Amino acid sequence: MNYKLINNNRINFKLNKKYLQMENKVKKNIEYYLNQVYLEDIMGLLKKLPSNSVDMIYGDPDYNVGIKYGNKTYTKNFDEYIEWYIKLAAESLRVLKDTGNMFLINYPKQNAHVRVKFLDKACHEVYDYVWVYNTNVGHTPKRFTTAHRSILHCIKTKNNKFYKDNVALPYKNPTDKRIIQNMANGSKGRMPYDWFYYDLVKNVSKEKTFHACQIPQKLSEMLLKSCTMPEDIVLILFGGSGSEIEICKTLNRKFISSEIDEKYYNMILDRLNNGKIDEKYRLNINNREIQRGTSTILRQPDLLK
Ligand SMILES: C[S@@+](CC[C@H](N)C(=O)[O-])C[C@H]1O[C@@H](n2cnc3c(N)ncnc32)[C@H](O)[C@@H]1O
Repeated sequence: MNYKLINNNRINFKLNKKYLQMENKVKKNIEYYLNQVYLEDIMGLLKKLPSNSVDMIYGDPDYNVGIKYGNKTYTKNFDEYIEWYIKLAAESLRVLKDTGNMFLINYPKQNAHVRVKFLDKACHEVYDYVWVYNTNVGHTPKRFTTAHRSILHCIKTKNNKFYKDNVALPYKNPTDKRIIQNMANGSKGRMPYDWFYYDLVKNVSKEKTFHACQIPQKLSEMLLKSCTMPEDIVLILFGGSGSEIEICKTLNRKFISSEIDEKYYNMILDRLNNGKIDEKYRLNINNREIQRGTSTILRQPDLLK
């Protein structure tokens, strides 16, 4: 009896080992992660992803300025934050394909530090763009009002893929002779400038949820289209309200994302499964159950159905 048990254990052990080996092999393939959102710390997810495997990385992290997500804040000492930001950028670059593009959105000071202390050396090139918007908050008597964010565009080689036709804007001077010639040669318009004007997501906007800090979908859509085509793989580092992931789904880009907060994670899954934002996730001060967070664990669905 005892012997049999030991024997069975040995068989189980061998089978388990084989199964684990197979599982580990599968997990080394990027396919395993596609069209999934993970409820976990992005640093943990990044470490599992294979090198040179995604076409675009889009990062809109917590900016370390005391924002409260529900009742949580991720704010730390500035130097510690920059250390974390550098680790995030380094691991992200490992996962990015040589032909890929990475965009990091943040306030100018945070992006300046990560750029000078790390990205300038690690990347083939870094471009600094600006998103400008009108704002009713942040006015102070002794300095100009902050009404822009920095977007760092990082590339690993000179062979980054970029699709001007996906984002071309109408020429400003369509009657100019050279422009007429350009258009006759098939040009779809001019390359957008490196500053972008998009309104902040307003409380009354259709895309607004109870999430504390959303990026306007028109902006993320433009960035996504600029450097990816259908079926390309996009890693959205911070799921947030799911706004960028929803754009990936609409544009037929494959996505991978993580969100550390369970109530936002649940909203993302619901949003993707139902194709709309349920009323219970709308910004509503009476909706205290959501504001506090729910403990319901939703299934991990096939998000592309
Ligand atoms: C600035 S918000 C992203 C908002 C998003 N761009 C949108 O439009 O909805 C940052 C998000 O990252 C999440 N977060 C913070 N630290 C994280 C971490 N270490 N790993 C994964 N998610 C994290 C927060 O809960 C928050 O939802």
